[in-house]
Amino acid sequence: MTSPFDSITIGPLTLRNRFIKSGANEAMSRDGVPTKAMLKHHGDLARGGIGMTTVAYGAVSEVGRTLANQIVMSESSLKDLTALTQEIHQHGAAASIQITHGGSFVTGLKVKGATISSSSGINKAGLLSGNFWQRAMKESDMQAVINAFVDAAHIARRAKFDAVEIHMGHGYLLNQFISPLSNKRRDKYGGSAENRARFPARVLAAVKQAVGKDLAILAKINVADGVRGGATAADGAITAQVLEQAGADMLVLSGGRNMESTWFMFGSPINQQAIADVLKNPISRLLMKAAALSTPKELTFKEMYFHQYSMQIRQAVTLPLAYLGGVKSLANAEKAIADGFECVVMARTLLHDTGLVNKFKSGEISQSGCDNCNACVAYIYHQAGTWCIKTPANDPAINEIPASK
Ligand SMILES: Cc1cc2nc3c(=O)[nH]c(=O)nc-3n(C[C@H](O)[C@H](O)[C@H](O)COP(=O)(O)O)c2cc1C
Repeated sequence: MTSPFDSITIGPLTLRNRFIKSGANEAMSRDGVPTKAMLKHHGDLARGGIGMTTVAYGAVSEVGRTLANQIVMSESSLKDLTALTQEIHQHGAAASIQITHGGSFVTGLKVKGATISSSSGINKAGLLSGNFWQRAMKESDMQAVINAFVDAAHIARRAKFDAVEIHMGHGYLLNQFISPLSNKRRDKYGGSAENRARFPARVLAAVKQAVGKDLAILAKINVADGVRGGATAADGAITAQVLEQAGADMLVLSGGRNMESTWFMFGSPINQQAIADVLKNPISRLLMKAAALSTPKELTFKEMYFHQYSMQIRQAVTLPLAYLGGVKSLANAEKAIADGFECVVMARTLLHDTGLVNKFKSGEISQSGCDNCNACVAYIYHQAGTWCIKTPANDPAINEIPASK
């Protein structure tokens, strides 16, 4: 029987085991470059036994940022990104970087003119940061975004990343095409689930062609949006099929949208107390509060909360899939592998304890101590960087120094 500790090959990449740290905004970048705090965090994860760690949230261009300090994939960040991968490799793990374009999901800065998206109209996500309007992308915009993803992937390759994870979930630009909540187009990029996945698939195919010999090409997708009028699991299965055709090496299965269904993404409500504690900025506070409004009253956390949805995707495709969502024990990880997922992806449990994988392996523990309080989600706004409040705080000083210094 396959074990989560067995190695696995994904495209050109072989991992020492099947545990992957999920891309989770570390808030450990300044002026577009990763900091020493980021280096320490991913170094700790690599030392802690993870097969591959995912650096969150590298914007493919300045205009593709959601937050002002976010990493920008460019010549200016190359040196610090390289320091980061060196640290990760030194401890035997592989390094992936999540590459994104926010489109209309820009919450931390003002973009000049209307933000781009699949469709035109009022930009709900941007209202609080003054980005009131979004405009439907034309073919020339699509080509520019494809080029930006390809350029970002080249930067990732030169910085010695082993994989890129193209973000197609949670409400970022490529998800603004996939989800019927935002895609109202009437051309070949709108309407059916196949059409809605067409532009994201073009991006993936171009990235694969550019760097696919050297890097594993992953995409993070929603198994469903979790709200009425959003993408369903049946849509998720079609998205997966289209991306399989486009050449994805593996899909990371997530769900929910940053604006409409954050609770679905986390399988539990957002921690309002932590938001009040951390968010000094009234804009971010309001945004988090607004995002929580749709949370179902009776929602309680269930381990493996995306299992049923993810099995529908498993049945629809043959390419490698990574299970994500509420993996909290070694037994959960073993179940995911036994159910046919090639890898297991975790975020909150690894924020709680970066050494979790080694502890699972040695038998020291078999259950994570994370209690899904979700305070970490608010702590993406903390100047010391994201951390679990049940553990010692990060050192704020090292979050001001570039990773390579
Ligand atoms: C603090 C925090 C920040 C996150 N930031 C991101 C992000 O930048 N990109 C992303 O795709 N997902 C992000 N997520 C979502 C996680 O990657 C993951 O999908 C989610 O936490 C469910 O996995 P889990 O049950 O193992 O925590 C974040 C999660 C947390 C807890």
